[in-house]
Formats: sequence, structure tokens, C-alpha cells
Amino acid sequence: MSPSANPVRLGVLGLGRAFTLMLPTFMADSRVKLVAAFDPRPDARTAFAQTFGGRVHESAEAVCADPDVEWVYVATPHQMHAEQVQLAARHGKHVLVEKPMALSLADCAKMIDVCEVAGTQLIVGHSHSFNAPVLLARQLIDSGAFGRVCMVHAMQYTDFLYRPRRPEELDTAQGGGVVFSQAAHQVDIVRLLAGGEVSSVRALTGRWDPTRPTEGAYSALLTFANGAFASATYNGYGFYDTDLLMDGVGEMGRPKSRDAHYQTRVRMKTVTDEAQEAAVKTERNFGGSLFTLAATEAPDACQHFGPVLVSCEHGDLRLTPRGVQVFDENGSRFVPAVVPAVPRAEVIDELWTVARESRVPLHGGRWSQATVEVCLALLESQRAGQDIMLKHQVALPRH
Ligand SMILES: NC(=O)c1ccc[n+]([C@@H]2O[C@H](COP(=O)([O-])OP(=O)(O)OC[C@H]3O[C@@H](n4cnc5c(N)ncnc54)[C@H](O)[C@@H]3O)[C@@H](O)[C@H]2O)c1
Repeated sequence: MSPSANPVRLGVLGLGRAFTLMLPTFMADSRVKLVAAFDPRPDARTAFAQTFGGRVHESAEAVCADPDVEWVYVATPHQMHAEQVQLAARHGKHVLVEKPMALSLADCAKMIDVCEVAGTQLIVGHSHSFNAPVLLARQLIDSGAFGRVCMVHAMQYTDFLYRPRRPEELDTAQGGGVVFSQAAHQVDIVRLLAGGEVSSVRALTGRWDPTRPTEGAYSALLTFANGAFASATYNGYGFYDTDLLMDGVGEMGRPKSRDAHYQTRVRMKTVTDEAQEAAVKTERNFGGSLFTLAATEAPDACQHFGPVLVSCEHGDLRLTPRGVQVFDENGSRFVPAVVPAVPRAEVIDELWTVARESRVPLHGGRWSQATVEVCLALLESQRAGQDIMLKHQVALPRH
């Protein structure tokens, strides 16, 4: 039977930015079908019914209770993930929840427990650790050709802090700042490449702009139980753009203008107050007056999260938007990744193998709780000025 004959039937909670970014995937990948949704914004609900012919509900609970929904995609603000995942699981629904999994380890534990009791699956994503070049680098490491991973180095300079935000996205206590939103990507990538089990974290975080009063930057040193270590650096105040080191390809796998960060700051100058800023964000999302559908045609490069280098005993692997450049005793060669025909198809790949082939998720609850633990340790290390030892780490699931 072809996948399109039995697509995974999704109900969506939250039709905002994350959903908008997944929209090209949902529209083009026949392995999923959007059957229901809830968002408090009436315009988004109307657009959903018109675009997908799906049912729009008046509450998150109604989506979870809808008998036609198999999996619930939770794409609401971070602070809602824990409650909504549990709600879905209590209705017997499997869940795909956006990163970060939650804002505390206690919430992650509750989500895992409730899903286990209900016998429902949990996948945390999209995150950029789903990207094809990351998975390719992992396969190359698993081939054994390069020996063990010794060191990983990841660096990303973006305009994150100057994109339109909701007020809580600029308040660390409510999950704001680059540690919760962006380390969730970068730490997941670094863990996936170095083996998963982080022993300790030492980090410094930067709050350099009082008008955006949350973490905008960090630098972290991670040690791993297997002896590897990693550095992860992120600057969301970026005047500079590390995409220039990625062949000029942006995070979404498309060509990016050299002055994109400058343009973001120019647009931010037109913002008058926090309510208007939040409204600008909303209006650019699905159902909003400024919404434009991202390109659905096949990109010629993969999505990525900036430069990542993996040093193994017998070779260095440099992730690029199109694959992995290998440097070893035989010189240098390029191993191409299969650029997905549909953007972010890798998320649906994992969803499909879990939903239809009974495989264990790579980005399951315990894996993703461990990433949240590292993110929280970044913040704690800055506060305490010392190394933070970790207790909830897990190795990469074997497939
Ligand atoms: N993987 C990625 O690339 C990516 C990109 C952006 C955001 N995200 C994640 O997605 C999540 C949402 O962030 P965002 O930027 O999309 O925020 P957003 O504000 O753009 O969208 C959130 C949406 O949720 C809706 N909402 C609010 N309360 C709700 C409720 N009770 N039930 C259902 N819907 C509700 C809002 O009306 C809004 O449309 C965050 O956890 C963020 O980390 C991931």
C-alpha cells in the first residue's frame, strides 16, 4: 500500500510561526494529512479550513478528543507544551511536539510518564538535528571508518533577537531567549554527533541589549561520558551571518541575502511597542494579513544550523548544506546528502517510521529531556559560575 493511501492523520494545536514553517512540508508530503486544528485566532482557523478542508475546533481538548486525529502536532508557545502533550496522551493520541520539549525537567518527566501510561508515542521536533547532513554525518561516524568522535565544534550567528517576538519570548522565566529556543537545536545536533550522554556543562551567556532583556548569546563547553567534548556558540545579535560560511545558504536551505541581518534590524526600527511587535509576528503567520506561503518547490540544499565540525580519531567531518566534506588520511572528499524533495521531509520520515513501522523514535521523550537538561545547565552554569554535572542523559537510540 502506498503511504498516501494511509497517511498519518494529524490534528494541530497552534497555527503560528512553527506551523507556518512546516506548512510546505504538510502541503507536499502525502504521508501526512491535516484533519483538524485549534488556534485561538479565528483567521487562522478559517485559513486552515479553507486550505486543508479539515475540522476547526474551539479548544485544544476538542482536537485531542477528535476520533479522526491519530497524532497531535503541538506547535504552541513553549510553556504550553507540557500540558498539551499530556492532554493529547490522555486522549490516547500520539504526539509530535515542537522544540524545546518543555521548560523544566519535571514537566519533561510528566510528559514521558503520561505517554508511557497511555501507550502513546512522543517525538520532539522539528529541530535542526533532523537535517539530512546531520544524519549523514552520524551514519559516517557509525560506519567506524573514522574512529571515535573526539570533539565537535558548532557555531551560529543569526538575527534571532531582532525578529518580531511575543513578550514572553524576551523573558527567560517564560522560556524566552536563545538558550531555550536555539540551544534546543544546536545542543541536539551536538549530542546526536557526539553520542548523546553529556557529563558536564560550563557556559557563559550574554545579555547585551537591555531593550531585548533575555539571553541573546552563549558559549558552552560540553564534556561527554565517552570522553568526547564539544563547544557550542550562538550569537542571536549577529551583525555577522555564519550562513556566509555555509555557501550563502540560509537555515531553510535557500539562498540568503548577505544583508539579511541588517534588513531585520531596519524592520525592527519600525516597531513601536511590544503589543505592536507581537501583532507583526502574528500577522506574518498562517491566516495573518502579511502571511506568504514559503516556497514549496524542492530546494537545492538542505536546511542547516550553521557551521558544525566533527573531529574523529582518523578524520574531520565538516557539515555543509549539501552533505559532508570529509578530510582524512586519503585527502578530502565530498559525501553528498540526499536533499529532501520536500522541505523538512526528515521530520515526516521519523514520524512515518514510528507511526507506521513501529520503530523507536530518534527524538523521543528521554532523548529530548536530556537536551532540555543541557539547555537548563547552560543557564545554571552562567548563574553559578561553575561546571554543572548532568543526571538525565541518554545515549542515541540504536536503530
Ligand atoms: N522548529 C522550528 O524551526 C521552530 C520555529 C519556530 C517556532 N518553533 C517552536 O514552535 C513553538 C511556537 O512558537 P512560534 O514561534 O510558532 O509561536 P507563534 O506565536 O508564532 O505561534 C503560536 C500559535 O499558538 C497559538 N496558540 C496560543 N494559545 C494556544 C492554545 N491554547 N491552543 C492552541 N493554539 C494556541 C497562537 O495563537 C499562535 O498562532 C515554540 O515552542 C517554538 O520553539 C519551532
